[in-house]
Amino acid sequence: MRKIVFATHNQNKLKEIRSMMPRSIKLLSLDDILCHDEIPETADTIEGNAKLKADHVYYKYNLPCFADDTGLEVEALGGEPGVRSARYAGNDKNSEANIDKLLFNLKHKESRAAQFKTVIHLMDKKENKCFTGICKGHIIENKRGDGGFGYDPIFVPEDYKETFAELSSATKNKISHRGLAVNKLISYLKSI
Ligand code: IMP
Repeated sequence: MRKIVFATHNQNKLKEIRSMMPRSIKLLSLDDILCHDEIPETADTIEGNAKLKADHVYYKYNLPCFADDTGLEVEALGGEPGVRSARYAGNDKNSEANIDKLLFNLKHKESRAAQFKTVIHLMDKKENKCFTGICKGHIIENKRGDGGFGYDPIFVPEDYKETFAELSSATKNKISHRGLAVNKLISYLKSI
């Protein structure tokens, strides 16, 4: 069985992606390989951060590995918060504060168009591969819904009326940035 590391400590993401992987691949987490490093996310792009995380594991443990990074890009804010999505309102990564800051900065802006972007970086036998998933939509004025996480309560995906926080996780996974990027990764892994 082929082993591949997903460079994350996030058990929810791990569970989600594990359930989508073909049986021929055994997905290992950072905990499984006893990697307890806080891998730095110091790049200034989403692509750069995904690469930093995948490289860290590949070069330290010599195991095939992929890592993901996601950001919310808001048109009227020149693509912000983007790579700074998690820490938009401060280093404590507080989702409520991030949402409040975003809604404040969007007040009086005409366009509320936004997109989530996920990049997955795969390192396998020194080969670099990148898979991108984009989900377009818009930011509403007041939070709606209890599901999901992060900016979900204020993001309405294109062709839907509900926010990500109001949609079921099955629907979100089907149309989301992360779901799309993961599907591209899986198609590639099945092909090699
Ligand atoms: P990460 O790269 O997956 O850790 O995502 C960085 C930040 O983007 C998170 O801390 C969230 O604030 C935000 N984010 C990522 N994915 C989602 C999502 O699916 N919904 C809402 N917010 C998200």
